[in-house]
Amino acid sequence: MAFRFHCKTELLAVDPQSPDPAVMRRAGEVLKRGGLVAFPTETVYGLGASALDQGAVRRIFQAKGRPADNPLIIHIAAAEELEWLADDSGGRGRLLAQAFWPGPLTLVLPGRGRVTTAATAGLDSVAVRLPAHPVARALIRAAGVPVAAPSANLSGRPSPTTAAHVWQDLAGRVEMILDAGPAGQGVESTVLDLTVSPPLILRPGGVTREELQRVLGRVDVDPAVLAVQKETDIEQPRSPGMKYRHYAPRAPLYLFEGEAVALRRALRERLATELAAGRRVGVLCREGNQACYEGAVVVPLGRQDRPEQVAAGLYAALRYLDEQAVEIILAEGVPAVGMGLAVANRLRRAAGGNVLEVKN
Ligand code: TXA
Ligand code: MG
Repeated sequence: MAFRFHCKTELLAVDPQSPDPAVMRRAGEVLKRGGLVAFPTETVYGLGASALDQGAVRRIFQAKGRPADNPLIIHIAAAEELEWLADDSGGRGRLLAQAFWPGPLTLVLPGRGRVTTAATAGLDSVAVRLPAHPVARALIRAAGVPVAAPSANLSGRPSPTTAAHVWQDLAGRVEMILDAGPAGQGVESTVLDLTVSPPLILRPGGVTREELQRVLGRVDVDPAVLAVQKETDIEQPRSPGMKYRHYAPRAPLYLFEGEAVALRRALRERLATELAAGRRVGVLCREGNQACYEGAVVVPLGRQDRPEQVAAGLYAALRYLDEQAVEIILAEGVPAVGMGLAVANRLRRAAGGNVLEVKN
């Protein structure tokens, strides 16, 4: 990219539960003046700018190398602000806000033209979220404006779950990084489209389909969520972000899905072939399976029946395998139910077309 970055990046430690008000005031000032501040949320770290400031929002796209047609989520500090930003005349937004906000749920509703068109990528709709992390909420309040914030990674890299990840990707490109330790859930928020009926999950996350259905009745999942296809196959995705290869480590990732025993056998066979060819191999597997993959750089991700454990460590594991300079990554799949749907979606995206359905 031709754009040059010259800014000095300040890294400030803050207490995740009760951040220092003086630090938060300063961070708020940076946003008010059109600067960029990376901050923790309960999902992943975000890169914030004032959603009302066209120049500031454009800088987010430049800093990340993000395509301009991929809109940003607008973060608010109080649920009442939803109706200033979006048309919730159906009332479903308010119902969901009562049930799940603050938390990892993003609502897509018809916009009211309040935020800069750079943030919505010119769409008629707007994506809004009230985060639960105390630092995120203190920052939005201190800024006094809605905060547009994508994940704080370079476009195409795994989302950051620590301030160190943000530093790796964005040092010299943003004014400030607030370090409050690891982000909570490790995968991005659920994105729910309320402009259609029944509501449609565009991106699965910490609020599950099952939980949404308890409030709304029927909720559908966009077929693109679990589609195994290359980015070029999806021509008109509902969520512009879905057409890009996301969450991706540098090495190609091969995802093995199917029944546990058969899957382990297939993965071991592939590992043996790769090792025999002299390749450095990374393996992502469930807790307890490490010993099956001798010779590889193995990262256990948690119990198979606890997808939230897998979610919490997934992006850090992908970055770690990059640092270990593995040439290929072999990954065990997870069942796509509950929080497992979010994990399966991220793994399939990281795999691109390389998903192997293992039969018994
Ligand atoms: O957990 C999260 O949601 C994190 C934290 C920082 O809040 N943010 C995040 O932002 O993941 P980002 O930009 O990485 O992902 C936003 C997703 C993209 O897939 C984008 O296409 C979609 O939301 N999106 C935004 N506005 C939309 C709209 N009006 N209609 C459909 N999809 C939209
Ligand atoms: Mg992102």
